[in-house]
Amino acid sequence: MIDFCGIELAHPVINASGCFDVLAARACFGEELIERFPFSAYVSKTVTLAPRAGNPPPRLWESAAGMINSIGLPNPGIEGYLDEHLGEYAKLGVPLITNVMGSTAAEFVALLAALEDRSEVAAIELNVSCPNVATGLDIGADPRGLRLLLEELRPLTQKPLIVKLTPNTADVGACASAAEEGGADAVSLINTLRAMALGYGGKPWLGGGSGGLSGPAIRAVALAQVASVAERVAIPIVGMGGVSSGADAAALLEVGALLVAVGTESFRDPAAGARISAELARLFAENAGS
Ligand code: FUM
Repeated sequence: MIDFCGIELAHPVINASGCFDVLAARACFGEELIERFPFSAYVSKTVTLAPRAGNPPPRLWESAAGMINSIGLPNPGIEGYLDEHLGEYAKLGVPLITNVMGSTAAEFVALLAALEDRSEVAAIELNVSCPNVATGLDIGADPRGLRLLLEELRPLTQKPLIVKLTPNTADVGACASAAEEGGADAVSLINTLRAMALGYGGKPWLGGGSGGLSGPAIRAVALAQVASVAERVAIPIVGMGGVSSGADAAALLEVGALLVAVGTESFRDPAAGARISAELARLFAENAGS
């Protein structure tokens, strides 16, 4: 068992927010998915205060060893999430982490208030790092703004607060450290790297103009950023970025992550979570024996 901010997790592999749609996966894999859920906690896609339609299509571009997404956080809003999604997620039998994004501190305050009495929610991840919405990235790249946001939010909830950091900043360690000073219980990184793709006639391919690069292409960046954050903070780190195998997960744990999240690989291989967990367990067992 792993103690993550006071939450007991069976193993270190979770999903990255927005990268494993439980409802779609259940339609594909059936109830067996629930009986043998691959992740030790489930992280929801980002929820905002008001419903969002997301960015215009096209929303995806396959790049060398990865993809660029410009999804733009479509979601039913906090009321729709509580009414339509939370009950389904609660059936998974693993702790639930709700990922939220506010465009202002006041919106984050309202989101926390809406979740506070919901015992189904074990922890809250603050998305301060989405490259696909106008205001999403700014605060996550500004250590002072991040500390002030955390100082405002921390007293408002009993639930652990995880801050999802952006790699699109000069000093991710400074951002992690500011989040910790403000009262964050954990940090998660990396979100996607800002990127763009050109389509016909040299026009941006993605409807949102630019997007975020993920997948194996960013694995080495994730490793370096997790390692540098681990030198700066004492709070737990959820490492992610291009994890496609147990060995990739082990590398992030090696440099200081407590948990590892699987993101883009689940789009390529919907059974990746279970496979990566099993590969990681095998690596642990081999090392224990050596
Ligand atoms: O839906 C999205 O565009 C999510 C992006 C992110 O948070 O990285």
